Amino acid sequence: MGYCKLPCSVLFLCLFITSCFPNQSLADEVQGNLTAKLFIDASEKSGRPIPQTLFGIFFEEINHAGAGGLWAELVSNRGFEAGGSNIPSNIDPWSIIGNESSIIVSTDRSSCFERNKVALRMEVLCNSEGSNICPSGGVGIYNPGFWGMNIEEGKSYRVVFYVRSTEAIDISVSFTSSDGLQTLASTNIIASASDVSNWTKMEVLLEAKETNHNSRLQLTTSKKGLIWLDQVSAMPLDTYKGHGFRNELFQMLADIKPQFIRFPGGCFVEGEWLRNAFRWKASVGPWEERPGHFGDVWMYWTDDGLGYFEFLQLAEDLGASPIWVFNNGISHNDQVDTSSVLPFVQEALDGIEFARGDSSSTWGALRAAMGHPEPFDLKYVAIGNEDCGKKNYRGNYLKFYDAIKQAYPDIKTISNCDGSSRPLDHPADLYDFHVYTSANNLFSMSNQFDHTSRKGPKAFVSEYAVTGKDAGTGSLLAALAEAGFLIGLEKNSDVVQMASYAPLFVNSNDRRWNPDAIVFNSFQVYGTPSYWVQHFFRESSGATFLNATLQKDSSTSIVASAITWKNSEDGQTYIRIKAVNFGSNSVNLQISVGGLDPNSVKLSGSTKTVLTSANLMDENSFKEPKKVAPIQTLLEEADKEMSVLLLPHSFTSFDLLKESASLRIAEDDSSLKSAI
Ligand code: AHR
Repeated sequence: MGYCKLPCSVLFLCLFITSCFPNQSLADEVQGNLTAKLFIDASEKSGRPIPQTLFGIFFEEINHAGAGGLWAELVSNRGFEAGGSNIPSNIDPWSIIGNESSIIVSTDRSSCFERNKVALRMEVLCNSEGSNICPSGGVGIYNPGFWGMNIEEGKSYRVVFYVRSTEAIDISVSFTSSDGLQTLASTNIIASASDVSNWTKMEVLLEAKETNHNSRLQLTTSKKGLIWLDQVSAMPLDTYKGHGFRNELFQMLADIKPQFIRFPGGCFVEGEWLRNAFRWKASVGPWEERPGHFGDVWMYWTDDGLGYFEFLQLAEDLGASPIWVFNNGISHNDQVDTSSVLPFVQEALDGIEFARGDSSSTWGALRAAMGHPEPFDLKYVAIGNEDCGKKNYRGNYLKFYDAIKQAYPDIKTISNCDGSSRPLDHPADLYDFHVYTSANNLFSMSNQFDHTSRKGPKAFVSEYAVTGKDAGTGSLLAALAEAGFLIGLEKNSDVVQMASYAPLFVNSNDRRWNPDAIVFNSFQVYGTPSYWVQHFFRESSGATFLNATLQKDSSTSIVASAITWKNSEDGQTYIRIKAVNFGSNSVNLQISVGGLDPNSVKLSGSTKTVLTSANLMDENSFKEPKKVAPIQTLLEEADKEMSVLLLPHSFTSFDLLKESASLRIAEDDSSLKSAI
């Protein structure tokens, strides 16, 4: 966040007007603004703890969020399985270097990996000498990755592949530009016929001598012979903790301090058909042995490098509670009858054992062999996604619920049925609530949970967003409505325990769903305004919610809330006031804080942060990644009357530095109200 760009003048104007026109109505005349008042009771006894889990993230494998996204693997279709198990098969996005006179490329089922038998067969017809000389640079295959590989000067990449041949091999492994003309890094792998007569793993480190964001990986040779290739991987060495997560995308997540991560979907978990749904067992173990699968909802292949283990690792690396969503025997188009669902129940129990079992248990042992002997902290599971209305949901749900509660009584289960307006007809710890709607609707839903019963399961707003015309590919308008909705969730956090925006990521080359929180390509990333809204709430989880009363007339479209939170970086406590002005007039908001000693708020060290833009439909882009982003200014003036200007179509947050020792216990005494 930059200091004092645009809002400095606004702040100055506001302070000037406040001190020159203590009489509010005169100030109104001059500014032509609407007015509102916010009374905050900051006394200790009126505060209510906000759940530690309130704000988190929902990661779905959609828009190439993982494959070609957070998962740093550069090769797409590394095992040649994406074309299906029948041969010959489509090797897309691999392509051939050379023509029919120099090379014949096909697939067969000769792989040494049992769960993914397809391998690539390369018959090299040309040679370095004789009548059929290979073209300069040789012949072979290349992989463009996911819309181009980002290869950066000075960085190292580990390339691994499996090879078999009837002859000695001399294979050149290189990163090149997309046309193959610029070589960024290259090495040769030479082996005798006896070394490669059986499938052999080859591994090389390539250091790039130049940068190209749209590179490809080439395996080429100028030596006649028959070569089989399989499981070709290229990973940057520089990933988060070496765990395989693309650093800058991981950082975008860490920056919003998610308290939980729901994964891996969404519809991705359900599948259009059960046969194409994500199955955790096929996504664990050595990467070479994972079969990969075609996600038929978002219509793309994943090699499942980002599998169940990696999701749990991601949660741990983020310090977030994992929330595993598993298939409950129901897809979009087919369902397992409740009488036959037990194998699916067992699959879920095995998955919990994989996460939590000790390393002597069957599945815990696999986790340990993958490098994590300690259990992962799995405490929440969601039984299906958006399946409440389906015929077999209740029956299947209860089978899962009973078995999980019996084996793991502490695990909290999440039902797909909305319990916000009437009680659930089945037991659950939490229920899913999803909402995708227009900006006006979502803003008005800041009251959605005001009348929800305080008894029974808690709400998990696991997917929310403004979509459609109002949102474009991530507008300020959408973000402001979401901010209003989140203020409502914060207010109702006695019944709403968790909330996450959806979807989280989009690779700009594969926009399956708009809008999304984080947009990236092979080398760039930015947050949409909706992402930045989540920034404003990252301190709310585990904070204290303060009673606040907003006085305004019906034409004033604002919502506001107040919390106290402790900043672990400076050890200080702050009162954070957040206000969304959803209307097109500016609003003069008078804030008074009660329940504190008069001098307990220090304006020096206090800040104001504003999210707004010149136009309501403004969006961020790779060119202007921070066109709509929060701007923070210091509140340096020691003004006793806090009358703040909320710009039209804006989200503003004030962090008022609080003297910790001076909290008062009494709250009702109006003489204690200190207008700051
Ligand atoms: O977030 C995109 C999709 O919306 C999710 O996969 C699904 O749960 C919902 O319908």
